[in-house]
Amino acid sequence: MPQLFRRRTNGYVQLFLALVALVVLLAGVALTLNGSPYNTGQNAIPEQPVPFSHQHHVGGLGIDCQYCHTSVDRSSFAGLPDTQTCMTCHSQLWTNADMLAPVRQSLAREEPIEWTRVHDLPDYVYFNHQMHINNGVGCESCHGRVDRMPLMRQDKPLTMKWCLDCHRDPGPRLRPRDKVTAMGYSPESGRSDEEYLKLYDIHTDRMTECTTCHR
Ligand code: HEC
Ligand code: HEC
Ligand code: HEC
Ligand code: HEC
Ligand code: HEC
Repeated sequence: MPQLFRRRTNGYVQLFLALVALVVLLAGVALTLNGSPYNTGQNAIPEQPVPFSHQHHVGGLGIDCQYCHTSVDRSSFAGLPDTQTCMTCHSQLWTNADMLAPVRQSLAREEPIEWTRVHDLPDYVYFNHQMHINNGVGCESCHGRVDRMPLMRQDKPLTMKWCLDCHRDPGPRLRPRDKVTAMGYSPESGRSDEEYLKLYDIHTDRMTECTTCHR
C-alpha cells in the first residue's frame, strides 16, 4: 500500500486548522466591537479649532439652538453658525482671548472656521433634520443634554437599531413643537402618544421601510 500522504502534510493540516481558529476568533472580536462605542464614535470628543462650549452658551447664557443652527427646521442639515454669528458678541466680549484667535482670523481672512464633524452617518444613510423637528422630536432625544457639554460629543450610538427603536414606537418621544430645542424637557400632563401621532399625522408603518433611510 503506497503511502497516501507524506509526513509533512500533517503539519500543513495543523497550520490550516490554527489559521481557521484565528479567523473565527477575529470575526468574533469584530462582531463584538461593531456596535460598541469604540466603533460607533459614541462619546468621542474630536479636537476643534476653538474649544466652543455649549454648556456656557446654551446652559449658562441660554442662547437657543436655532440662533446658531438656523436651518434645522427647514432643511435636512442643521447647519453651523458663520463667524459673524460669534462676532455679534465677541467683537465686544473676550476680544483678546487667545482661545478666540481662530475666530478673529477667520473674520479677517474671510474664511469659515473649519469645525471637525462630531456626528457623521455613512453616505448610504439618508437623514433629515426638518422631518424630525417639525414632527416634535426634540434635539435632546438624539443629541442628549447639550446644555451640559463643555465640549461637543456624540451622545447616542446612531446605529440602525437605535434609529429603528424610535421609528417603531415614536409616540412616547414626541413633544410640542415649541419645545423641540428645550433641554431637560419632561412631558407635561398634556397629550397621549396617540394624540401626538394624530397631531403630526405620523404613520408608523412607513417609518421602518428600508427606503425611508436608504434611498
Ligand atoms: C452660540 C452658538 C451655538 C448655539 C446656541 C448652539 N450651538 Fe451647537 N454648535 C455650535 C458650534 C460652533 C458647533 C461646532 C463646534 C462643536 O462641535 O463643538 C456646534 C456643534 C453642534 C453639534 C455637533 C455637530 C457635528 O459636528 O456633528 C450638535 C449636535 C449641536 N451643536 C447641537 C446643538 C443644540 C442641540 C443646541 C441647543 C440646545 C445648540 N447646538 C446650540 C454653536 C452653537
Ligand atoms: C450671545 C452672545 C454670544 C455669542 C453669539 C457667542 N458667544 Fe462665546 N461667549 C459669550 C460670553 C458672554 C462668554 C463668557 C462666558 C463665561 O465666561 O461664562 C463667551 C465665552 C466664549 C469662549 C471662552 C470659553 C468659554 O466658553 O467660556 C469661547 C471660546 C467662545 N465664547 C466662543 C464662541 C464662538 C466660537 C461663538 C460662535 C460660534 C460664540 N462664542 C458665540 C457670548 C457669546
Ligand atoms: C432624530 C434624531 C435627531 C434630532 C431630533 C436632531 N438631530 Fe442633529 N443630527 C442627527 C444625526 C443623525 C446627525 C448626523 C447627520 C449626518 O451625518 O448626516 C446630526 C447632525 C447634527 C449637526 C451637524 C450638522 C448637520 O446638519 O449634519 C448639528 C449642528 C445638529 N445635528 C444639531 C441639531 C439641533 C440643533 C437639533 C434640534 C433643533 C437636532 N440636531 C435634532 C440626529 C438628530
Ligand atoms: C426619537 C425618535 C426618532 C429617532 C431616534 C429617529 N427618528 Fe427618524 N423620524 C422620527 C419621526 C417621529 C419621524 C416623522 C415620521 C412621519 O412624518 O411620518 C421621522 C422621520 C424620518 C425620516 C423621514 C421619513 C419620510 O417620510 O420621508 C427619515 C429619513 C428618518 N426619520 C431617518 C432617521 C434616521 C436615519 C435615524 C437614525 C440616525 C432616525 N431617523 C432616528 C423619529 C425618530
Ligand atoms: C430609520 C432608519 C433606517 C431604516 C428604516 C433602515 N436602516 Fe439600515 N441603516 C441605518 C443606519 C443609520 C445605518 C448605519 C449605522 C449602522 O451600521 O448601524 C444602517 C446600516 C445598514 C446596513 C449596513 C450594515 C453594516 O453593518 O454595515 C445595511 C445592510 C442596512 N442598513 C440594511 C437595511 C435594510 C435591509 C433595511 C430594511 C429592512 C434597513 N436597513 C432599514 C438606518 C436605517
